[in-house]
Amino acid sequence: MQWWNAGVVYQVYIRSFADSNGDGIGDINGLRSRLGYLSDLGVDAIWVNPWYQSPLNDGGYDVSDYRAIEPRFGTLADAEALITEAHAHGIKVVVDLVPNHTSSEHRWFQEALGSTKESVARSRYHFRPGKGADSEEPPTNWSSVFGGSAWTRLADGDWYLHLFDSTQPDLNWENQEVRTEMEQVMRFWLDRGADGFRIDVAHGLVKDMSYPDHAEEQEILISSQASDHPFWDRDGIHPIVRQWRQLLDEYDDRILVAEAWVAADSLPRYLRPDEYHQSFNFDFLSGSWDAAQMQQLIASSLDAVAAVEATPTWVLSNHDVVRHATRLGLPQDTDWRRWLLDGPHQILDTDLGLARARAAVMFMLALPGSVYLYQGEELGLHEVWDLPDEVLDDPVWERSGHTMKGRDGCRVPIPWAVEGPSLGFGSGPAWLPQPEWFGAASVEAQQAQPGSTLELYRAALALRSKHLVGDAEAEWLDAPEGVIGFRRGSGVECWLNVSGQTMTLPTDREILLTSTSVGHELPVNSAAWLK
Ligand code: BGC
Repeated sequence: MQWWNAGVVYQVYIRSFADSNGDGIGDINGLRSRLGYLSDLGVDAIWVNPWYQSPLNDGGYDVSDYRAIEPRFGTLADAEALITEAHAHGIKVVVDLVPNHTSSEHRWFQEALGSTKESVARSRYHFRPGKGADSEEPPTNWSSVFGGSAWTRLADGDWYLHLFDSTQPDLNWENQEVRTEMEQVMRFWLDRGADGFRIDVAHGLVKDMSYPDHAEEQEILISSQASDHPFWDRDGIHPIVRQWRQLLDEYDDRILVAEAWVAADSLPRYLRPDEYHQSFNFDFLSGSWDAAQMQQLIASSLDAVAAVEATPTWVLSNHDVVRHATRLGLPQDTDWRRWLLDGPHQILDTDLGLARARAAVMFMLALPGSVYLYQGEELGLHEVWDLPDEVLDDPVWERSGHTMKGRDGCRVPIPWAVEGPSLGFGSGPAWLPQPEWFGAASVEAQQAQPGSTLELYRAALALRSKHLVGDAEAEWLDAPEGVIGFRRGSGVECWLNVSGQTMTLPTDREILLTSTSVGHELPVNSAAWLK
């Protein structure tokens, strides 16, 4: 068994995790100082969001040098020390690689700007003439995921493609130099001990170079389900992935994880034995709080990965989505991306959301496969949905013409302490303001508090490594309507009550852990593990 087959990977959004130098921005040395916390929590690996040199227009997903660390995050020596120290704690380090686009400050793009049309420098990106007599119309009607056109025009009339912000020009993956360079970047980090890569926008690398128009409206980060889409999920992606996989296989024990927002039936193609080891299972993240639907989704996810002999994965939150404690506290079918701005905000039931979040994580941690946790979910944090407009940093806010609030609300710096200028995050104010209720949710407030969400996570992770990682099977148990039960090879059972009424758990089993403590009576919106 490889470490990732049942690994618990903790996602560190570096600029919001821990700030070592008081500039309000989280950094690598802050993360180093908290490795003990992560080890006590019981995680197997961390995935660190991009830490490369970057103007941080998109939180670091706009890389200006893949071999340098952004000075606000630290130095290359800090990154190397982090990898070494994490390994000493038994924690693997997965690095976030952004191959779809660079920053407009990357030397290649700067060179392209200073070069002529159809030059070698421009061929590393997608530069095109526009439509119309004076090239005044964009080459295609493609939309940026963040809003507006996916094309920006230069003074000389050429347009360049950016599926995200205009400061994130898309690379041309038909260009061999681009491929070679990214492989060298991979080696650079693997040689420094990185345990693998989370590949950003894995479904977007290859474009239809005939540049056809496309009519579909793009929702943020959601790809088209349609086949032959001009820039999502194209077949040409897979040979590139196979090259990367061969490269990784030259090293021991390294992992490739795809961030691919593609239709469920397309995902297994990314997980074939010579491609990615894992992909995030976004269907689980976006699934509804309904027992039958959840069970069906889990069964089909397990079947889909089994068919290609890959590892199932589960995730509830990340830095791009509304925190799940909040999503689960909204009425079913609320469009949570729109709810952030449009409300009505009083429909959020925070207690209900937290109860469900605690149950959901126990359920997820009991499933076979690997699990991704997002920093702060172990504190039961809610989305900070009421950040004032003037502090919003996500490019989505401006590019959408203030019609989408963006992702800042799940990126507010972590509260480590009950009090202090940034609640223990750093010695000064944090780059995004923390709300008043954050102190009560802090690590300090929850540590050693029986029943706290932090203690629930710690207990669950410890029990998981003891009872729930030895096999890849889950046997469904007979359950009343609205309840899901399954048993793992160790004999441990997980029960989740999504129905309208309390259920009585089998009384001949010992209770290992519950998300609400009530003996053998399992209230609605709760989960229990039995042995
Ligand atoms: C990342 C986002 C980022 C986008 C562009 C995504 O998939 O997770 O945070 O904005 O890629 O790089």
